[in-house]
Amino acid sequence: MAVNGRIEELKNAALSAVRGAESTAALEDARVRYLGRSAELTEIKKSIGTLSPDERKEVGRSANLASREIEGALEAKTAQLSAGEREERLRAEAVDVTLPGVPHPRGNLHPSQRIIDEVVDFFVGLGYGVAEGPEAETDYYNFTALGIPPGHPARTMQDTFFLDDGLVLRTHTSPVQVRTMLSQPPPVYVVCPGRTYRRDSDPTHTPMFHQIEGLAVDRGLTLGHLKGTLAAMARHVFGDDVTVRLRPSYFQFTEPSVELDVSCFRCGGSDPNCKVCKGAGWLEMLGAGMVDPGVLEEAGVDPEEYTGFAFGMGPDRMAMAKYGIPDLRLFFEGDLRFLRQF
Ligand code: PHE
Repeated sequence: MAVNGRIEELKNAALSAVRGAESTAALEDARVRYLGRSAELTEIKKSIGTLSPDERKEVGRSANLASREIEGALEAKTAQLSAGEREERLRAEAVDVTLPGVPHPRGNLHPSQRIIDEVVDFFVGLGYGVAEGPEAETDYYNFTALGIPPGHPARTMQDTFFLDDGLVLRTHTSPVQVRTMLSQPPPVYVVCPGRTYRRDSDPTHTPMFHQIEGLAVDRGLTLGHLKGTLAAMARHVFGDDVTVRLRPSYFQFTEPSVELDVSCFRCGGSDPNCKVCKGAGWLEMLGAGMVDPGVLEEAGVDPEEYTGFAFGMGPDRMAMAKYGIPDLRLFFEGDLRFLRQF
């Protein structure tokens, strides 16, 4: 019968298109072409109703068989192709976990923070505590309680940023001394690192800088204890070979007052052209002294029973010396090229 012959032809064409398809897209084309709504085989099925009952049975059977055979081939080929394509995709998307990763930039410590850590670590090792105070400080704690009442000429020495309501940006960390003594009975051993502010800006001064205050209050403390403690600290920061010397100085809140120099850690005084000490052999490091009895009293400590020593150092300056940095302003510009060098 002519129609059955045509069905056979269509089936064979469909099977070879299906088997020869090289992608799921080509397979879909073949499906539409041979089994789709306007495919010839579909048309044949639709026209079955117009045939004689005998033909109807015969043609219907072979058309259904052909459809089923093509569907079976489609299914098998689909499975085969999509498995292959999945494999291909997995291969293309594969991540080689043995390749080196994207390196994360590694941060490092700011030079001032390095010095602060070294100094604080040293004092914590001696049993000191760490205290902090507010940066917006009252005039009272920043000046008056330290023997610098309103109108005192020493106030002009510290170019102060004044805020509203009798507050100032603290010009030094010394107010933490008074706050600490008021908050705990002696013996007191603390260091107080923090930010301080003065209206000043040139290669060796910035409006914001750091200080580390130290305070010890106990029975029988002397200037000798102060010197020994600070000499050990200087060796911790600048190396075992350095020595220290005291020079007389003046602060309103200490009596006697001293300045402490450290022998040059680079040349020890032997190089007149030394870049670190400029041939001086010594580096000025900090101000210190025995806590003035008036300050102890103001802070509720009996000066007949207790004595104390205090010191205040500038870790930024110490970092400039230690790392040979010529301009303090570099510290606070946030330039990563500068910071990466440490
Ligand atoms: N506060 C002083 C300054 O900023 C330093 C200092 C601290 C001096 C403690 C003596 C005792 O210059």
